[in-house]
Formats: sequence, C-alpha cells, structure tokens
Amino acid sequence: MNHLLREAAASVGASPALVPFLGLLFEGVDSLGSSPARVVRMLRNARVGPGSRVLDLGCGKGAAAIALAQTLGCRCTGIDAVPEFVAAANAAARQRGVSKLCEFRAGNLRQFARAGAYDAAIMLGVLDVERGRRVLRRSVRPGGVYILDDAVAVRPRRGCPTLDEARRILTRGGDRIEVEDLWTPQQTLRQEEQLHRQLSRNAARIAMSHPRLQRSLASFLQRQQRAARELQTRFQPVQWMVRKSGWRGGGEGGGRWGVLSLTRSNAPGHPRAPRE
Ligand SMILES: C[S@@+](CC[C@H](N)C(=O)[O-])C[C@H]1O[C@@H](n2cnc3c(N)ncnc32)[C@H](O)[C@@H]1O
Repeated sequence: MNHLLREAAASVGASPALVPFLGLLFEGVDSLGSSPARVVRMLRNARVGPGSRVLDLGCGKGAAAIALAQTLGCRCTGIDAVPEFVAAANAAARQRGVSKLCEFRAGNLRQFARAGAYDAAIMLGVLDVERGRRVLRRSVRPGGVYILDDAVAVRPRRGCPTLDEARRILTRGGDRIEVEDLWTPQQTLRQEEQLHRQLSRNAARIAMSHPRLQRSLASFLQRQQRAARELQTRFQPVQWMVRKSGWRGGGEGGGRWGVLSLTRSNAPGHPRAPRE
C-alpha cells in the first residue's frame, strides 16, 4: 500500500483497508474539512480576485477552490493524494462552469513546491499548525496570505498546540494573523452530526457489498464520533488567515494588523481526528 494514500486516509480518519473505498465513503460529502463560504470571505477581504493565483493543498473534492473561482474569479490549483477526490473536484469544476479557472491534480502536497508562486494558499484540515504553516508559507509570495484550518488544545498537552502556542508559531518571521475564526462547540456539534449521518449511510452501503469490511467501517464511524466529541471538549477547531511578511502595503513597517476573532456561522464537513 502506497504510503501517501495511507497518510491521506489517516487525514480523514480511515484505516488502510478503506483506501480503495474513500470515494464511496465520502460520496455526497463535498467539503471534507472546512467552510468554503468562510474561506471566500477571508480571501475577498484580502483582495484576492481575477488574476490572483490560489493554491489549495489537500483540496479534497475542491469545494473551497471551486467556490473561490466562482465568486472571486481567481485561478485555483488544487492538489490531493486521493485520485477519486481529484476526479470529483474536476467534475464539479466542469459542472459549475469554472473548469478554465480550476485545475486539480493528484499528488503529494509536500512535493508540489513552487516557491513563492501564489498570491494565496489554503490548507483546510490536513497538516498541523507547525508543518502546515511551513508548506503554505513556502508557496506564497512575500506579502501573500495563507489560510490554515486546524484544531488547538483547550489545555496544554503534548503534540498539539494551545491557541496561544499556535499564534506564536504562526507569527514567526514577522507574519501577521489577520483573521482568527474559532468554532463554538455548538457549531462543531451541528456539522459533525450532519456529516455522521451521511458517512453512516455510505458505510452501510459499502458493508452490504463488502461484508469483510464491516469491522473497519464500524471502527471508522466510532473514530469519527470520538473525534467529534473531542472537538467539542478537549480541542477547538480554528481557522486563521495569516499574511506572510514582506508586504509593502502597510503590514510590515508601519501597518497595524489586529487579530479579528470570529465565530463560525457556516461550517460543513470536518471529518478529521485531532492530531496528537
Ligand atoms: C480532512 S480532508 C480536507 C479536504 C479539503 N481541504 C476540504 O476542506 O474539503 C484532508 C485531505 O487531505 C488530503 N491529504 C492528506 N495528506 C496529503 C498529502 N500528503 N498530499 C496530498 N493530499 C493529502 C486527503 O486526501 C484529504 O482529501
């Protein structure tokens, strides 16, 4: 089994046995990590528009990139390890009339390094703050922005930063957090319940035609439920928009960027377990 596909499966809480079934398991689930509407709002405020280039690392089925192309008219490139997700993303882009603006490719996001080539880069529910920031930061030009979505620990614990620790990581090297969007436990609960219903239906369908997978599917659903509980208690999902240092429009050397805290109003799909 290919190491990259194992990693991709783990990022959506699935065991290696379920790799060939990821397309079926997530059928009907467009957004696997975050809220495309929120990403659009953040990047609109950052003045991303026609002519801007945006990279979506771990794009899943391309929900965020497609919404960006549709509403802001920017060019989007999405990379994901799961070929079925990439095929679904390209089909959705064609269906929504933005295939000229969107390009989705199968591959390892770590090997997709075109340093400084993008005005904005996003990573929603894929790598932790430390590793995610490194890859995102490398991809955007000085003064560009990146959006990272991950969970922080409510209390200090090994392997997962608290909110303050995450802020310190994200502001290294003079970068500035422009928006910080925190999920409330109620918002997490609402969207996790919706997601769980769809995943349970899909898992039941797969189990009917592949009875040998029953245990793997049951453990997958249990892991999802445990992760959902933990995202309401021990961890908190957060989405940041960070401006990479080097901007000459006022952020560096004279500009003032405050941290704007928001709560989520529109938050679909979050099938990731907190990483420890
Ligand atoms: C929780 S999902 C989020 C998907 C998408 N960002 C969204 O919000 O809908 C995590 C995604 O990261 C992808 N992934 C994980 N590790 C990867 C890697 N090394 N290279 C490319 N994609 C990866 C998985 O295949 C999966 O689609």
